[in-house]
Amino acid sequence: MKLALVTGGAGFIGSHLVEGLLAREYKVRVLDNFATGKRENLASVLTRIELLEGSVANLTTAHSAMRNVDVVFHQAALPSVPRSVKNPLESNEINITGTLNILVAARDAGVKRVVYAASSSAYGDQPTLPKVETMTPDPMSPYAIAKLAGEMYARAFTQLYGLSTVSLRYFNVFGPRQDPTTQYAGVLAKFCTCAVTGQPYPVHGDGEQSRDFTYVENVVEANIRAAESAIEGAPVLNVACGERTTLNQIIALLNELTGQNLPAQYGAERAGDVRHSHADIARAGKLLGYEPMIDLREGLKRTLEWYRGTVNSQR
Ligand SMILES: NC(=O)c1ccc[n+]([C@@H]2O[C@H](COP(=O)([O-])OP(=O)(O)OC[C@H]3O[C@@H](n4cnc5c(N)ncnc54)[C@H](O)[C@@H]3O)[C@@H](O)[C@H]2O)c1
Repeated sequence: MKLALVTGGAGFIGSHLVEGLLAREYKVRVLDNFATGKRENLASVLTRIELLEGSVANLTTAHSAMRNVDVVFHQAALPSVPRSVKNPLESNEINITGTLNILVAARDAGVKRVVYAASSSAYGDQPTLPKVETMTPDPMSPYAIAKLAGEMYARAFTQLYGLSTVSLRYFNVFGPRQDPTTQYAGVLAKFCTCAVTGQPYPVHGDGEQSRDFTYVENVVEANIRAAESAIEGAPVLNVACGERTTLNQIIALLNELTGQNLPAQYGAERAGDVRHSHADIARAGKLLGYEPMIDLREGLKRTLEWYRGTVNSQR
């Protein structure tokens, strides 16, 4: 049985990945400091995993988390553009130094592969769509810079030390357990909460900005394929659905799925946000055999169901 370390495993994506790995008979260790993740995200699997509480920003912790590990899924980060705009040093410390610590510890422990959670924010606001991995990155925020630096470190560790790495550039992931409550919440977490509680959808800007929204199960599948595929070098791969949808279209779809006509509430644009995001997913298809299994509509249905359950249990 292979031992997988999932950093950030108590987070939104990490907790789904933990479940996916257990279902495929991996042994799983989680390293998380609960900065944004929650113990309850792991409630259904707590007895089946090893949970280490600690920070990736601490090299000693990273080293001890790495003992006997075969493969690392590095999800831990402070994942928010506006949060990084407010506090770039914090983003640098967790997202760059933390990633470097994980790579150093993985190298020293002889880990067979590190799969790194990179971000579509690396592309910035370039007008060319869809975004292809061969494009020159143009990060616009401390968060985007940090996530890109992580990719570059991963590649350097492959070249310099022979540590096998894959960087997956996620595009706007959504699904159950994405936290809607913080000021940094992902847009679909907020919108789905509005849809189930009957409140207007808060929109930064005119709602015509678009994203390649990706249901979380697709991301789990891409990660496991990235760990198990025969791969040369240190590829960087887009992970998305390969379609783009505006926020106004999302609002129409959520209203249709919930049989309502809730309005949007338009406000000022946000600093550091990109206008359009749309992925070319051919490279992940070629190298990993990846293709999105759950489309936007089905993903939204499942996500709404989860938020409905959460809201009802709080009543
Ligand atoms: N959600 C998206 O749309 C998206 C898009 C692109 C990339 N990503 C990347 O995917 C990864 C997971 O994001 P998410 O959306 O699940 O966010 P999340 O906030 O739910 O998960 C991040 C996890 O990392 C943990 N963490 C934070 N700082 C840590 C530290 N110093 N030490 C140990 N653990 C720490 C948090 O407690 C949390 O459990 C991140 O690396 C993020 O940058 C996410």
